[in-house]
Amino acid sequence: MEISVRSGDILGEATDLAVLACFEETTLPDAISDQFEAADFKGKANSTLVVYPRGDTTPRRVVLVGLGERDSVDAERIRQAVATAVRQVRSLQVGSAVLGFADGPGLDPVSAGEVIAEGLILGNYRYLQFKTGLSPAESFEVDDIAVVATDDVDALSEGLATGRTIAEAVVFARDLVNRPGELKTPPQLAAEAVALGESLDGVSVTVLEMDELRDQGFGGIVAVGKGSYSEPRFIIMEYGAELTDVPTVCLVGKGLTFDSGGLNIKTADGMETMKNDMGGSAAVFGAIKVAAELELPIHVVGLVPSAENMPSGRSYRPGDIITSLSGTTIEILNTDAEGRVILSDALHYATRYEPDAIIELSTLTGAIIVALGDMASGLMATDQDLADRVIAAGDASGDRVWQMPLWDEYREITKSEIADLKNHVGAQAGSIGAAAFLAHFAGDWPFAHLDIAGTAYISSPKKPYQYKGATGAGVRVVTEVLRNFTA
Ligand code: BES
Ligand code: ZN
Ligand code: ZN
Repeated sequence: MEISVRSGDILGEATDLAVLACFEETTLPDAISDQFEAADFKGKANSTLVVYPRGDTTPRRVVLVGLGERDSVDAERIRQAVATAVRQVRSLQVGSAVLGFADGPGLDPVSAGEVIAEGLILGNYRYLQFKTGLSPAESFEVDDIAVVATDDVDALSEGLATGRTIAEAVVFARDLVNRPGELKTPPQLAAEAVALGESLDGVSVTVLEMDELRDQGFGGIVAVGKGSYSEPRFIIMEYGAELTDVPTVCLVGKGLTFDSGGLNIKTADGMETMKNDMGGSAAVFGAIKVAAELELPIHVVGLVPSAENMPSGRSYRPGDIITSLSGTTIEILNTDAEGRVILSDALHYATRYEPDAIIELSTLTGAIIVALGDMASGLMATDQDLADRVIAAGDASGDRVWQMPLWDEYREITKSEIADLKNHVGAQAGSIGAAAFLAHFAGDWPFAHLDIAGTAYISSPKKPYQYKGATGAGVRVVTEVLRNFTA
């Protein structure tokens, strides 16, 4: 979808379709308000009404979209209203439309541009690659939207470009997470990372294969990955290595391409959506894509342990004790708690960079879905400054997080009787116990863990810019942290 900006008066354009975003307080011109009863449209957030104004120099039809009360408008409200609007344009099967704000967007023009682009691109998202025989109406695409503004066109345009970059990275992540597990095995996921790296300036990608993983002591990745026909991989992406006097942030993402549970096999219901278990890796790829495209002044290292968790004659077993890259021994009590096992190697690897922060994202526990639903990702951190950065970034980006404690007592429940740690903490504190296990491997480096099991893949979308299936959770919040780390 093309997005452009121009200055002008949206209601003075004789176009086929104009979207006009209005506050509850907005007074509409007579040519429009004459066409409906006042009660039909009151500017409530995400409400819409299609009207056909009179006059030769007016758009043939206008989609009114509500922004709610002017005083309380924020970025998320605009993102949602714009997404609502673009879906309405698509359902009317209009390929080219103009978009404007009757009383301005109520945000500074750069921020407004960003969230308009996000709303347009994310609201327009669908995953249709495997659909055959769609009717023209079902496969209809909106080709271009021109944003019409009365002033600040340059600033708006700058914001739109940034928002497009971020939204396209979210789309990249959504597409990868929606892709069937068969088509994104660890070697294929690694190839995807290599291709992404080649498409970006200043990004290097290194992939470690099975022999190197065994030789170098990646005991966690090898243990989980050896039960599958598809070999595991460890993916290292690096942006900004040549920059001086910039912070280093390691992003670690769980790249479990399909989680059957292994020998502790999942139920049919539990397994149905487990292609999404690489959502953390998709978020890491997306964030690196943004960092490189926006040329952020920061050194970002993306680390993705990738494996497929399968039951077979070569699978790791409950009772096995494995030695992680750090030398820490792990007693396996449940092969379905495999995320923390592969992440143990990756987190220890991250410490080699002496980073200013390690931010790790994983679809780690079902327990986080019980706690937070799909409304927020769980945040657990060893450093409150870092946690505060992530919380602020979540609020600003709409990719929200909610913090849970990570007190020392939680570390106790991860200890094993016969090894250093065990991979299953029992009935209590499932999500925090998993985070405490991970924190062990991050050492003393500032560490934040985002459990995106509830947010990465959803069955009932809550926002107009979400779609059933992959959400791209993590891309926007991490991107926002990286942008602010440079400040
Ligand atoms: N990948 C799952 C967690 C998950 C659940 C992600 C639902 C997305 C949606 C993880 O590997 C897992 O199986 N966790 C177990 C851990 C348990 C065996 C300690 C869980 O949460 O049930
Ligand atoms: Zn599992
Ligand atoms: Zn898993």
